[in-house]
Amino acid sequence: MTDSFNRKITYLRLSVTERCSEKCIYCSKSEGKCPKESELSAESFVKIARACALIGISKVRLTGGEPLLRRDFIQIVSGISSLNTYKDISLTTNAQLLKEQAHALKKAGINRCNISLDSLRDEAYNEMTGGDLQKVFRGIKAAFQERMTPVRLNTVLIKGKNDLEIDSFIEVARKYPVDVRFIELMPMGDASFEGISNEKILADRPYLKPVELTEDYSGPAKYYSSSGFAGKVGFISPISHSFCESCNRIRVTSDGFIRPCLGDTAEYSLKEALTGSTEDLARLIFDIIRKKPQRNSFSDSFQTNRKMNQIGG
Ligand code: 5AD
Repeated sequence: MTDSFNRKITYLRLSVTERCSEKCIYCSKSEGKCPKESELSAESFVKIARACALIGISKVRLTGGEPLLRRDFIQIVSGISSLNTYKDISLTTNAQLLKEQAHALKKAGINRCNISLDSLRDEAYNEMTGGDLQKVFRGIKAAFQERMTPVRLNTVLIKGKNDLEIDSFIEVARKYPVDVRFIELMPMGDASFEGISNEKILADRPYLKPVELTEDYSGPAKYYSSSGFAGKVGFISPISHSFCESCNRIRVTSDGFIRPCLGDTAEYSLKEALTGSTEDLARLIFDIIRKKPQRNSFSDSFQTNRKMNQIGG
């Protein structure tokens, strides 16, 4: 379907929990407002995916919080997979539990994953996230072994924290067949940190050249590479270059609200409709999508009402 600004909406992001095993400094240090008891059931997530398929949505990403914390996560994945309507079922994870679960995830239908990775140094990684960097490395290896590819690494650069690691991250893309993506810090978290402009990173590194993209690369990231690189460097620049005009996505929170735009506080409950027919649910989602705003409000001193872990990063 198209929204009121003629954008084709084809991509659903389901946040299955806002609980997280990490506490990233720019995301959330608190438990959030949707504790386990308010999380939708696995059946409800599958029903939402079924309804979205009826209105032409064909890609889904499972995110959080940390999706792998849900004990019934495999049930969600296989439920969506067995609808046979989604050509792409992907996962965003901090990879702390990925090694143990990778095989089952692939078998259930996850075809690729994005892994959050904010530092390549053990201590700095732990300081920024509270997690264990070596577990991330083991998770990345498992993702490759299970062919959940392309593997994408998401890095949020923050002044004074990890901004001296830019070239080390680029080196990862030179050495390994992964996409290392710099995501500009959005004002979605607890504290105010200063991000790094992607424009500046690129301007300082003229050896990075834009690469032709295949269909796998339909998102907002712009990819660059250089001779001898096994992988690519991606730039997601919601702050320096808004990509609202090509936005194709909607988000569903773990407590059952549709959030049509990350940078806009409007959200609409699906909870009542979840007790009715899939067709009625699809009609409601259709009506909500027609309310998707033309652009985000990041440039208008935006104040989020939910942190990133509560919306789905
Ligand atoms: N700004 C930019 N990216 C963010 N993420 C989480 N919070 C923010 C933020 N405030 C990204 C993380 C993670 C993904 C889930 O969302 O990099 O990989």
